[in-house]
Amino acid sequence: MKLKIRKNLALIDQHDKNFMYGGKFGGNFIPETLKKPVDDLTNLFAKLRKDKKFLKERDHYFKTYVGTPTPFIKLDNLTDHLGGAQIYAKVVSEANGGAHKIYNATVHCLIAKKAKKKYIVGDTGAGYAGKMLSMAAKKFGLKCKIFMGAKDIKRQRPNVEAIKKNGAEIVSVTTGSQTLVDAVSECMRYWVSNCDTTHMCVGSTVGPNIFIKICAWSTAQISRELFSQVEEEFGKIPRKLKLINCVGGGSSAAGFWNAFMNTTAEFIGVEAGGPKNSRLHAAPLTNGSKIGILHGAAQYVIQDKEGQIGSTESISAGLDYPGISPLHCFLKDTKRARYTSANDEEALSAYKLVSRLENISPSLEPSHAFAEAIKLAPKLDSTEVIIVNSCGDSIKDKDIIKERLGSYTR
Ligand SMILES: Cc1ncc(COP(=O)(O)O)c(C=O)c1O
Repeated sequence: MKLKIRKNLALIDQHDKNFMYGGKFGGNFIPETLKKPVDDLTNLFAKLRKDKKFLKERDHYFKTYVGTPTPFIKLDNLTDHLGGAQIYAKVVSEANGGAHKIYNATVHCLIAKKAKKKYIVGDTGAGYAGKMLSMAAKKFGLKCKIFMGAKDIKRQRPNVEAIKKNGAEIVSVTTGSQTLVDAVSECMRYWVSNCDTTHMCVGSTVGPNIFIKICAWSTAQISRELFSQVEEEFGKIPRKLKLINCVGGGSSAAGFWNAFMNTTAEFIGVEAGGPKNSRLHAAPLTNGSKIGILHGAAQYVIQDKEGQIGSTESISAGLDYPGISPLHCFLKDTKRARYTSANDEEALSAYKLVSRLENISPSLEPSHAFAEAIKLAPKLDSTEVIIVNSCGDSIKDKDIIKERLGSYTR
């Protein structure tokens, strides 16, 4: 069956009555005990997203707390160095806390307050989702617990310290691969037993449908403001425009593309290709993974012949996840977006080039997107425009960068 996007409907609302996108991605594959809390949250969010007072409140905090709009800048030196397309960056890493995860965290805390919950829990991989949730929880007076894989605790030290400084408890997850996939599983398990008192924030556009919706609705702010910034820069939306974003769970990409759905802009998602000489990666869409169920939703997922979730590897903790948002599975199958991957070494050299030539310092996740821009730009001419979402700051990766490249300066 050929999948189609309905033009008059927001991306998050393209699902059927079973919350499936294109009849095959997403849904709510959840234990019976979660049915009521998930239904309650679904109903509450449906009300809030239409509530003018709530929207005003959200916009107020986006402006005065998140710090929007974030800058939209031309990367002149990179453009000149590569020759070809004009390259721009949306510097979302300038948002409070240093990454896009602050949008989702802020909205979840506002919702938790409306639901009269005193406790909030969340997962994190790169540590930004955890750092932002701990920040927002502190601001809005909620007690916060963050689930993080033991491997990620070791490799994302600056964010771990920030989470602790914000007064949140970190639960070190030592099951499985000790990365994001296990952190999400443990967080959901905790929520099953504590959902009466506790609100759960899923850190990306994954999980049962309501979490995908809230997250993508929150990050959509990125493209809402980018749309105006692009119109202001070019007088209109350029016909030959490429919007390049890294994809882990998919929340930054969904937010970066949302307002451009009905334009001619090309959407390019960049997954983590893993180490150059390894069979392991975290790129289910690029490598033709089959559909499976992960964290309550059907999606393309890295798995073995028996359907067990497969191992992944990436230098970037934020992209090191075997699944991918049902929204991106849908965008891939409708051919509205295309997906590719960059390996660890390509991401590192992209980081090196961009931070040497420009006054931005992308973390290893958006460095994957820059790697694709660096490959593409020289093949295009100057009538083409590339915008990269520089969605995270490299400071969290300083140890890895120092180890791999010999030095780190900021
Ligand atoms: C800076 C940054 N970019 C990208 C990602 C990937 O997540 P998503 O695909 O949900 O944007 C993460 C995840 O932790 C992140 O911290």
